Amino acid sequence: MTTLQQRAYAKLNLTLDILGRREDGYHDLESVMQQITLCDDIELDVETGEDWRLLCEADGIPLDSSNLAWKAAGVFYRELGKDPQGITIRIEKRIPSQAGLAGGSADAAAVLLALNDYEGKPFSQRELMKLGEKIGSDVPFCIFGGTALVKGRGEEVEQIAPMPRCFYCVAMPDFSVSTADLYAKADEADCLYHPNTEAMRKALVKGELMEAAGCIGNTMEALVSCEHPEIEKIKEVMLDSGALGAAMTGSGSAVYGIFDSFDMAAVASMSLMEQGLRTYLATNV
Ligand code: C5P
Repeated sequence: MTTLQQRAYAKLNLTLDILGRREDGYHDLESVMQQITLCDDIELDVETGEDWRLLCEADGIPLDSSNLAWKAAGVFYRELGKDPQGITIRIEKRIPSQAGLAGGSADAAAVLLALNDYEGKPFSQRELMKLGEKIGSDVPFCIFGGTALVKGRGEEVEQIAPMPRCFYCVAMPDFSVSTADLYAKADEADCLYHPNTEAMRKALVKGELMEAAGCIGNTMEALVSCEHPEIEKIKEVMLDSGALGAAMTGSGSAVYGIFDSFDMAAVASMSLMEQGLRTYLATNV
């Protein structure tokens, strides 16, 4: 038996634009995604000689083949045409679920990366991303990492200039949103907000944090905040604490603020914790 370890980093959508509904029911997106240091720890035992198992102590995480980490191991060995002779996956969860932080996709990506290393890199990064697509729309980015412009359903991932050094305060409201329902709501909306992805890309090329923070935005945010005014309130606390910008990530419900100083991010975090919210401090990966 061999034990593998891999970090699974969360993602933020610095911009998230929905361009339209596709024939396959998914939506074409344009999003600047950023990997952040908030992470789960994955441990994989390979060749256990026992049945497959998944262990995780966090509430609400599936412990069977419906977990994306388990699915990833299945897809990997099916594609490789090999039997790993038993796998145990242990997940130390820190990334909140149903938050828009791609926690499940990050775990799946970590499993693919760890197994690919262990098996002597049978797949290139692009091939691994292609496998990731079968598991979830955010998995290709989670394999790629860093700062990227993501298009299509999530499978077109292009490296762009990195987000300048900064600190994030991520706050988790105590409600969650169904991603599929939110996309359906976007289809019905008469008018949607569209962030300026090109302006964000240019700000990143210049390395201007203030400018980049001013370009963050998410088409889905208004669709959530109209029913959950907490989103706006969290943003206000972030901005009052000195955030250069604040937005919801993905389909929510987590909200993040961007700060140029760790101390200010920590002050925002404390104010939000006093209001009973779970908060996380992070920086760019
Ligand atoms: O791919 P994933 O399973 O993460 O997507 C969850 C849901 O989000 C899908 O069932 C779909 O309703 C929606 N989705 C979408 N367009 C995307 C990504 C996700 O409509 N590009």
